[in-house]
Amino acid sequence: MLGVVHHDDVVEIVLANPPVNALSVQLRSALAKALSDALSFPHVRGVVIRGQGSFFCGGADINELEQHNDPWLPDLIDRIEAAGKPVIAAIQGDALGGGLELAMGCHYRLATPSAKLGLPEVKLGILPGAGGTQRLPRLAGAETALDMIVWGEPISALRALERGIVDRIVDQDRIVAEAVAYARSGQGIRRTRELPFVASDEAFDLFKSKNTRRLRGLHAPAACVEAVRAAAQLSFDEGLRREHELFIGLVKGEQSLALRHLFFAERSARKIEGLGKDIARRTIRKVGVIGGGTMGTGISINFLSRGIPLTIIEMDPDGVARARNFITASYNTAIAKGNLSEDQVEKALSLLEVTHDFSALSGCDLVIEAVYEDIELKKDVFRRLDRIADSSAILATNTSFLDVNKIAAVTSRPNDVLGLHFFSPANIMKLVEVVRGTETGPDVLATAIEVSRKIGKVPVVAGVCDGFIGNRMLTPRQANAEAMLVEGATPEQIDRVHIDFGMPMGPFQMLDLAGLDVGWHRNPARIDNIKDAICSRGRLGQKTKAGFYDYGDDRKPRPSEVVEQIVGEFRERAGIPLRRIADEEIVVRTLYTMVNEGAKILEEGIAQRASDINVVWVYGYGWPRHKGGPMYWAERIGLQTIVDGLTRYRDRLGSTFTLSPLLKKRAAEGRSLNNE
Ligand code: 3HC
Ligand code: NAI
Repeated sequence: MLGVVHHDDVVEIVLANPPVNALSVQLRSALAKALSDALSFPHVRGVVIRGQGSFFCGGADINELEQHNDPWLPDLIDRIEAAGKPVIAAIQGDALGGGLELAMGCHYRLATPSAKLGLPEVKLGILPGAGGTQRLPRLAGAETALDMIVWGEPISALRALERGIVDRIVDQDRIVAEAVAYARSGQGIRRTRELPFVASDEAFDLFKSKNTRRLRGLHAPAACVEAVRAAAQLSFDEGLRREHELFIGLVKGEQSLALRHLFFAERSARKIEGLGKDIARRTIRKVGVIGGGTMGTGISINFLSRGIPLTIIEMDPDGVARARNFITASYNTAIAKGNLSEDQVEKALSLLEVTHDFSALSGCDLVIEAVYEDIELKKDVFRRLDRIADSSAILATNTSFLDVNKIAAVTSRPNDVLGLHFFSPANIMKLVEVVRGTETGPDVLATAIEVSRKIGKVPVVAGVCDGFIGNRMLTPRQANAEAMLVEGATPEQIDRVHIDFGMPMGPFQMLDLAGLDVGWHRNPARIDNIKDAICSRGRLGQKTKAGFYDYGDDRKPRPSEVVEQIVGEFRERAGIPLRRIADEEIVVRTLYTMVNEGAKILEEGIAQRASDINVVWVYGYGWPRHKGGPMYWAERIGLQTIVDGLTRYRDRLGSTFTLSPLLKKRAAEGRSLNNE
């Protein structure tokens, strides 16, 4: 839990609570005792605090945030600051949340060049509750403090030095020696609480008004601004009290509960049944992508940006240039936005090859197919791939709905095949559904998860079914949304209900963005549903500036008379009377039906746990994080509420609708959907 090393007249205290040295109550007790012992020795001139391993400290223990056990972290940090001998933080790895707050309570801070410093509490729906909102502005000023506390992004040690948060950067192998020397150097005690902090009230109002959109509906960021404002307006101790009041208000709130659920959900999703940590991974040095369209190009950018050489195979002669141009344009935008340097882009583009020559795939360790959504075409591609790909290569399909087992079965090596389902835009959306086929080898699965994480994605394992986790849940939502159009709702009304709920866009805006032709049979004469009718008019979504909506150059959706007319024709043909649809009906028929499908996905074992489904929806479809994902949301409003709503609207849900037995059972028992 804690190590103590005596360097004659300086005591080094080592936080040792792997994996991230979280400040659990045991660690705090041990630290309080070690500190008081060290300070009580007359010969000791100073104390150094550092972390063991690659973290200084990852902050308070997130499992204990609602507990108030002695020694309470804010009190412990006050004690460190009040010490009569210099206390030096030797930040040899990341200092986050309570970890940085602890360091700011020390009198001086040294950091290694690779260390990161941050107050990410806002991402858990809380604010730094151990003095961070009062000490950081005193060290770094209002602008830096607001940026770091309200958005929660860590900064590099170098930037922290520029901003006055650390006093010196020291190489890893010298940091303890330098910190010990610092403690002996006779520098006076410098308490952060005693530093002046001045900022006008307008600075805070301006920050809020500039960020109205980003702050909308979220409790923690607004409270963070108020806490930093208190640092400017109140004495240090009054400011601490204000910080604590705001912290308590947040930590018990619905938003923080949901965000903390997601923190752990994302980490649980990495734990796969039957997949031990010791499974050998394959090495991925070179990647191939088949199909240089919307998804193929987006997927490619992820690998190129991580320095992994990549070859795109595109059959359409114009498509070869189109794919390269798209990727180049996307990188140019990143340069213009200041996200990447010209050198970084030049390096990424130098790793790219685009060709129509299939044989260029030999030598690839992973090949991801992203051609049209057509099972025969995909089978054909995999047959060819099987002949060309290296014997150790992993073969993946980016299919949205198709049967991965059937695709695998056309190869001589189904154990090397799996789905890697990226989400559009694939260079931005973080989710990858890793679809485990019946025959997928454990090393193939483990490698796919590892490589997905390496390119910055959040992988979630799914079983094979129509649409896996995410798209399968979209199916009832979409069917009901389209049915309600015919019954009397408009795309605008249905989308508005979803946006009011907190989704980034509604079902029809999403379809227009993805392209209405994804999965379309491409026969304009065959019109089975409204979407077919819209596609048959060449309205394929945003890319053709027309889909369920009309789009101008500003890409804003506008109601479409063509769609109104198409819907009217369907209504007339089906003899359905026009009626007013209440928003509540939209919620039940689109969101509750999704939860019902999610419960079926669970009972069929397609998802391992309810929280995996939440991760899919948050990272793949923009489900509002502070509502924790559909299954979490359902538990919060009550599974019985979902069952009652679906029962109330049963007659309108279509003849194929069935209530999930698991959902019904757990609701009746008052139990959660999680496997307990
Ligand atoms: N409390 C409890 N557990 C934590 C933790 C924390 N602060 N930080 C990480 N863990 C756990 C994870 O749940 C995971 O557990 P598992 O292995 O059982 O799944 C394990 O530590 C390793 O974490 P990661 O898989 O996330 O490891 P990475 O190396 O990928 O990332 C990290 C490390 C960047 C530190 C990341 O874990 C992280 O962002 N942690 C949270 C940091 C944070 O938000 N700190 C603020 C806490 S709140 C606070 O300090 C309140 C204070 O102001 C009063
Ligand atoms: P797209 O139409 O934009 O691109 C497909 C590309 O594949 C085209 O450039 C085409 O010329 C090329 N192609 C077709 N046959 C080929 C072959 N035999 N060899 C080489 N290239 C070939 O399609 P999109 O949207 O990129 O979709 C690709 C796959 O990704 C589909 O399976 C789709 O279901 C899936 N997907 C699509 C998403 C989306 O939002 N667009 C999201 C997630 C998955």
